[in-house]
Amino acid sequence: MSYNLLKGKKGIIFGALDENSIAWKTAERVHEEGGTFVLTNAPVAMRMGQINLLAEKTGSQIIPADATSIEDIENLVSKSMEILGGKIDFVLHSIGMSINVRKGNHYTDQNYAWTQKGTDVSAMSFHKVMQTLYKKDAMNEWGSIVALTYMAAQRVFPDYNDMADNKAYLESIARSFGYFFGKDKKVRVNTISQSPTPTTAGSGVKGFDGFIAYADKMSPLGNATALDCANYTVSMFSDLTKRVTLQNLFHDGGFSNMGVSDAVMDTFMKE
Ligand SMILES: NC(=O)c1ccc[n+]([C@@H]2O[C@H](COP(=O)([O-])OP(=O)(O)OC[C@H]3O[C@@H](n4cnc5c(N)ncnc54)[C@H](O)[C@@H]3O)[C@@H](O)[C@H]2O)c1
Repeated sequence: MSYNLLKGKKGIIFGALDENSIAWKTAERVHEEGGTFVLTNAPVAMRMGQINLLAEKTGSQIIPADATSIEDIENLVSKSMEILGGKIDFVLHSIGMSINVRKGNHYTDQNYAWTQKGTDVSAMSFHKVMQTLYKKDAMNEWGSIVALTYMAAQRVFPDYNDMADNKAYLESIARSFGYFFGKDKKVRVNTISQSPTPTTAGSGVKGFDGFIAYADKMSPLGNATALDCANYTVSMFSDLTKRVTLQNLFHDGGFSNMGVSDAVMDTFMKE
């Protein structure tokens, strides 16, 4: 169902790799709600992904950008403003990658070159995107910037590995940059802390099947899906959430406030 919540709004969506991606679902929902946008992803992901299908479906243009490259981001922001015909109202940062996770390096046995690369891609890229938007004065007043995160930033999930540290850094950048963006440009910045979700990035985490089933059993409302996350992000891009900023917003069916649930207890009770 569409409510026209984003009619006339313009934005940039990072991170749609395939139809499972949270950014893919978000692009579809933003389109349904009347928003227009530029799609972007790393040049390497363009070759693997099916982003052209999404662009066709949503009437969008694609601008490749490696989110670790200031030059690429500057080009992306300038070209997006040309294509969209002015300043930007919303940005979704939906990017995450850890080489240590991908290669199976344990948290206690990091390859630090890979750790640094993961931090650059997963967290510092958010600072780079916002700094570029800020310097170019590219955001409209009351615009909204959202990045996706996970609760391993606050609590221990051993197999989330160095991504936990990257998410803690990402959430801190949202608060620190969000202050200046709010004060100087009336732009809001938030992170959405999403349930485990079966996507390429999510499924890369060791033991993901167990992890997602456990979270589902612990959450009174069950895990939030990628589509649920897209809907929440639409609300954060809309004018209905104008004074929400500097927040880490848990979107997880209630998981983050649970101690234990009946469903989990049942698996430990002796007859
Ligand atoms: N899937 C989950 O369980 C889950 C849970 C909470 C938060 N998140 C977060 O949601 C976001 C989106 O992930 P997803 O689950 O949709 O997986 P996904 O694999 O579909 O998306 C990750 C995206 O990051 C992009 N990316 C990687 N390196 C890049 C670079 N250098 N420049 C630009 N883009 C780059 C990839 O191409 C891909 O499109 C990530 O921040 C992820 O950490 C995911």
